[in-house]
Amino acid sequence: MNIGILASGGDGAGMNYCLYNIYKKLYKHNKIFLFNRGYFGLINNDVLDFNFNYIKKHKNDGGIMIKTSRCPEFETLEGQEKALENLAKNKIDVLIVMGGNGSLKGAKELVKENINIMFIPCTIDNDVLNSEYCIGFDTACYNCASFINQVNDTMKSFNRTCIYEAMGRKCPAIAITVGNMVDADYMYVSNNCSVESCIEALRKIKEKKDAPIVILRENLIDIKYLKKEIENKLNLDVRTCIVGYLQRGGKPTKLEKNYAKKFAEKCVKEIKNKKFNQSIIVKNGFFVSEKLN
Ligand code: ADP
Ligand code: F6P
Ligand code: MG
Repeated sequence: MNIGILASGGDGAGMNYCLYNIYKKLYKHNKIFLFNRGYFGLINNDVLDFNFNYIKKHKNDGGIMIKTSRCPEFETLEGQEKALENLAKNKIDVLIVMGGNGSLKGAKELVKENINIMFIPCTIDNDVLNSEYCIGFDTACYNCASFINQVNDTMKSFNRTCIYEAMGRKCPAIAITVGNMVDADYMYVSNNCSVESCIEALRKIKEKKDAPIVILRENLIDIKYLKKEIENKLNLDVRTCIVGYLQRGGKPTKLEKNYAKKFAEKCVKEIKNKKFNQSIIVKNGFFVSEKLN
């Protein structure tokens, strides 16, 4: 078979380990096409010539070695037509898409055009429909919580309150999980939260705690505005930290690698059984495949 693989949307630790485990099982008896930079590489027929040793060497790295992108052109019919031409030119029998919820929508467009697709959920946001887990999430939470714990040491020395902004443009998963991991005093994670309720929560604990922790999900409210409001109302010394891209980068955790390998193994199994147009998902703790439609 000719098997295409691409990564699309936000990257996450563990994607390289997943790619390695897929490649290792398939490359001897199939021709593998690694498309550079996701749907962009598909549109431009940009195929990488990595060999197995290269992929093995980078299997534990953060990021994704075949590169990813946000590719607005793929959301247009023209872009999709170019991608279809290149899939036909390379006689691709099945295309493996590694990505988040946006990438899944793109993959479904290809299913409609009778392309065989396998989808593997990869996004630190952990927001792919029906899957309890997406590659990158555990590492992102671990990175974010480790950062907060470290910064909080110095906050304690000064009796300072700190607001930490976690990633998740449309999705609170990291902020909530990290909030639990660091025992946050207020989690500002959805539109149901408010400056007033945050201030009330801090008012209640400010005499009892050296360094209260507020977790803020990105894209909800300006972090500097929240700081000023807390300072004005509670007479606290407040600092802010946008945790940022360190959440997405870095080496995968042990749990991440375990999950990445299981996603890979299930995907390979289904390809060998010619069970195509499947999303590999975690359901009730098991790695299963679910029809893409
Ligand atoms: P993620 O996959 O991590 O959620 P994005 O939402 O940025 O990341 O989506 C990644 C890419 O998937 C987009 O840049 C685009 O190429 C493709 N995509 C997203 N939505 C669609 C759509 N409705 N139709 C076709 N392609 C899409
Ligand atoms: O990959 C998901 C994510 O990290 C979101 O949590 C965040 O809002 C977004 O990507 C940032 O994307 P970019 O790096 O393309 O600005
Ligand atoms: Mg997404």
